[in-house]
Amino acid sequence: MSAGRVALAVTGASGALYAVKTLSELLARGVHVELVVSDYGRRLLRDELGDEASLEKIVPYLSGKYGEKVHAGALTVHSNRDLGATIASGSHHCSAMAIVPCSMKTLAGVAHGLSRNLVERAADVMLKEHRRLVIVPRETPMSLPALKNMVLCAEAGAMVVPAMPAFYQQPKSLDDLADFMAGKILSALGFEHDLYPEWTGQVGS
Ligand SMILES: Cc1cc2nc3c(=O)[nH]c(=O)nc-3n(C[C@H](O)[C@H](O)[C@H](O)COP(=O)(O)O)c2cc1C
Repeated sequence: MSAGRVALAVTGASGALYAVKTLSELLARGVHVELVVSDYGRRLLRDELGDEASLEKIVPYLSGKYGEKVHAGALTVHSNRDLGATIASGSHHCSAMAIVPCSMKTLAGVAHGLSRNLVERAADVMLKEHRRLVIVPRETPMSLPALKNMVLCAEAGAMVVPAMPAFYQQPKSLDDLADFMAGKILSALGFEHDLYPEWTGQVGS
């Protein structure tokens, strides 16, 4: 996929590191990211990454952690309460969306087309317009309603990419695990990357 506009939603499921890594990789590719963070997504950024990663400070946090390359792209932050934001409309040229991480509550809202807030509405727009929607759910164990909601989303055309990092790439750090998930998300969005080694048939080769 070429640079363009991509919507990124962050909701209140564990895995803030996946969100910031995905955001930094999109920005480094020159993408205009339209970011929307739920109330619990905001809390998650602070709880898991510290106050310096709060939404208000996210750009300096990203450049401090990932380097100045994040300034290649553009960032627009939308309120989750603003159902009149650009990404709430199918006429807006936003080619894809990822929800990273996706809580079971937001998963349910997307699965049932509720559009109660901008995250759910923008996801519904992606489904109705047959554009790429990547959902990264995180919960364990999974309830039957959550499992069924993933099926509903997949049937509606979304790509369900559970937050399940692998270990065959022999991760040494949390960032290595986040790189793996961010790579999977970028692939699902249609971007090339080298965030984890290609599988060669053997561990560690
Ligand atoms: C620190 C923290 C971690 C959480 N982790 C998860 C999780 O992994 N999965 C999940 O579905 N909900 C999790 N929750 C609960 C959700 O945040 C809660 O259901 C919230 O209402 C989700 O709202 P949202 O989808 O609008 O962000 C967590 C909450 C907190 C405070």
